[in-house]
Amino acid sequence: MRITSIFYVIVLLSLYSTIINAAPATSAVPTLEKRQETEQDPDFNTNIFTSFKPLEVTASPITREYTLTLAKAELAPDGFSRQVWTSNGQYPGPMIRANKGDQIVIHVQNNLGDFTTIHWHGIFQRGTTFYDGVAGQTQCLIATGTTFTYNFTAGEQYGTYWWHSHFRSQYVDGLRGALIIHDPKDPYLNDYDEEFVMTLSDWHHEESESLVNKRMAKGYDGFNVN
Ligand SMILES: *[C@@H]1O[C@H](CO)[C@@H](O)[C@H](O)[C@H]1NC(C)=O
Repeated sequence: MRITSIFYVIVLLSLYSTIINAAPATSAVPTLEKRQETEQDPDFNTNIFTSFKPLEVTASPITREYTLTLAKAELAPDGFSRQVWTSNGQYPGPMIRANKGDQIVIHVQNNLGDFTTIHWHGIFQRGTTFYDGVAGQTQCLIATGTTFTYNFTAGEQYGTYWWHSHFRSQYVDGLRGALIIHDPKDPYLNDYDEEFVMTLSDWHHEESESLVNKRMAKGYDGFNVN
């Protein structure tokens, strides 16, 4: 019997590992997003507790196109209701996957009522630094009500990465997800049956904007609290 799974632990810290789906989709949800959540697009995995297999190997690299629709929603990830900054109605956001060398096109539809950018953490962005997603450094902010399209390849990179908002402290409020680049020549490919992604992070009942204000205030002593 082979080892049944490999656990990838992505994001930092502790505590949170639940995926919560937002209220049923309204007309604001574009058709494409729904399509991605069906069997037709198994590579757009929206449930972190669903195991997955490596993507099918293609003869040559292909373009993988995704849409992240960002909006606030009332969710209760740990039983406490609050405004969560969701991607495609969920927190954490959908897992984005590609094979080594693929072109990754991601349409970020910003419905947050705030500015944003999305950063593809760990991706070198050789030749496409303008798609690195760092607000004020590699791009202008994405205004609410508009879509920005990122378009890059991970080149020779493969492994477990993550994506997150790179504007203010938005990712603390939920704007983050996994980014997996498979290597079709993974030397361990035959040593496991399936994979899972687990993400861990702190989770707060207070929105991050007010946490940041407290952190920046004179006399902050949070670092001394056990
Ligand atoms: C993405 O970039 C590639 C390579 O520059 C280009 O051929 C393609 O047209 C771009 N696609 C989109 C949707 O911008």
